[in-house]
Amino acid sequence: MTALTLSTAAASGLRADAIVVGVAKGAKGPLVAPGAESVDKAYDGKLASVLETLGASGAEGEVTKLPAPSGFKAPVVLAVGLGPVPEKDQAYEGEALRRAAGAAARALAGAKKAGFALPVEDAADAAAIAEGALLGAYSFDAYKDVADDKAAKGKAGRAGKAKDANGAKGPLAEATLLGGKPRDKAYKAAVERAVAVCEELNRARDLINTPPNDLDPEAFAAVATAAGKEHGIKVQVLDEKALAKGGYGGILGVGAGSAAPPRLVKLSYTSSKAKKHLAFVGKGITYDSGGISLKPAGHNETMKCDMSGAAAVFAAVVAAARLGLEVNVTGWLALAENMPSGSATRPGDVLRMYSGKTVEVLNTDAEGRLVLADALTKASEEQPDAIVDVATLTGAMVLALGDRTFGIMANDDAFRASIHEVAEEVGEPSWPMPMPEHLRKGMDSPTADIANMGERMGGGLVAGLFLREFVGEGITWAHLDIAGPAYHEGAPYGYTPKGGTGSAVRTLVRLAERTAAGDLG
Ligand code: BES
Ligand code: MN
Ligand code: ZN
Repeated sequence: MTALTLSTAAASGLRADAIVVGVAKGAKGPLVAPGAESVDKAYDGKLASVLETLGASGAEGEVTKLPAPSGFKAPVVLAVGLGPVPEKDQAYEGEALRRAAGAAARALAGAKKAGFALPVEDAADAAAIAEGALLGAYSFDAYKDVADDKAAKGKAGRAGKAKDANGAKGPLAEATLLGGKPRDKAYKAAVERAVAVCEELNRARDLINTPPNDLDPEAFAAVATAAGKEHGIKVQVLDEKALAKGGYGGILGVGAGSAAPPRLVKLSYTSSKAKKHLAFVGKGITYDSGGISLKPAGHNETMKCDMSGAAAVFAAVVAAARLGLEVNVTGWLALAENMPSGSATRPGDVLRMYSGKTVEVLNTDAEGRLVLADALTKASEEQPDAIVDVATLTGAMVLALGDRTFGIMANDDAFRASIHEVAEEVGEPSWPMPMPEHLRKGMDSPTADIANMGERMGGGLVAGLFLREFVGEGITWAHLDIAGPAYHEGAPYGYTPKGGTGSAVRTLVRLAERTAAGDLG
């Protein structure tokens, strides 16, 4: 990953490929943002008018490169748009800084080092810029041929290295934050936290982007086992035999059609100072073909992303361990591949779930709720203070909220509001969704206790109602449907790349931090 340092160096003296400055959209044209005063001075105070002449407005994400003033060690100044100037006496919002740093880091692909002279008022601002730079610089190149430097592959990836066969450049190798206070404990801690969270978030992106022929349930479980050893997390893996013995009919039923058998992975991070216990449950369909209810062409090309919930849960537990949070966090990864075959579950089959309930499978493409149901029941046995599941669960949620916002459902309105607030705080768009009781009867089955499908209208809410039935009595639970934001197919923006985004990781980590601090219910 991109290396991150805090420095007290003056922008002019930093040996780097570029100095990044912020430019805001003012009422009468672009305005140079705080942090770049010395840079502006070196242009004789004309940076804003030069930028305007070059066509810059300060709009969010806009990138303008210009030759650095004489006397600068870096050859280039890169001005990145921060969007509207904040109201009088207000600072730039963390998310504006994060996005600008991300856009700048993306524009600096192929560079070795850049200094970021963006507005910093406190440690949280420095952390936001660090996050934006580390997340924006991300690129997935494990399967790309590096044209002239094969040796660059491996641990350091292509950071700062040559172009690949398609002309794509490797990520910015080093980001130096100027204007922070490297010796101030609060700054150091905030930036160290940002680095740990972003490293794990980027690892989640790698897992999501890894092709499904290389990441099947067994391979995912092996990654979790290795990470557990490295970070002092206890990892238990139930293989297909253990799942059969335990009666996990949902996970087994979904995995039945695949040559790659399913797994249920439990990651336990414990702190001796913990007062609370959170359980995170992730949907981990390493590939969703739809099964016998096969998806049509055009709907399955990106379905390697269907393990994004499990990737988020995994990343969040590892981040909690790395940060030494004073809260117990258990992660459950419900891993299976949904494939059609002679051994696959058929529409019409009835599964006996881990809870003992029976489910009539009317559509094998509604598989996420089946693996999650078993994991939710299992997670409930430990009586955690709260359970949060994360899943690319329904196309209906994408229709409802679009591709950048996840839906939140819960059996507790206050908890749903808390998660919405936490997501807002870290810059993840989300929205609270209802669970209308009348939609439950659409899942009545003549044969079994419940069917895995109900009414088409409100399909995302129907899925939430299904999951609710498998949560232990009296346990606070929330469900995040990340089907929209988990995988980004459009052009990159801010710190969001193409492909796996790491949606929900930052929300889960912040939820764990706030739970540890005791400032959530
Ligand atoms: N993995 C899909 C949902 C999905 C859709 C994720 C688009 C990401 C992008 C899920 O397993 C699925 O197929 N859901 C069905 C449920 C239906 C059959 C009740 C859907 O949403 O169509
Ligand atoms: Mn499906
Ligand atoms: Zn799915």
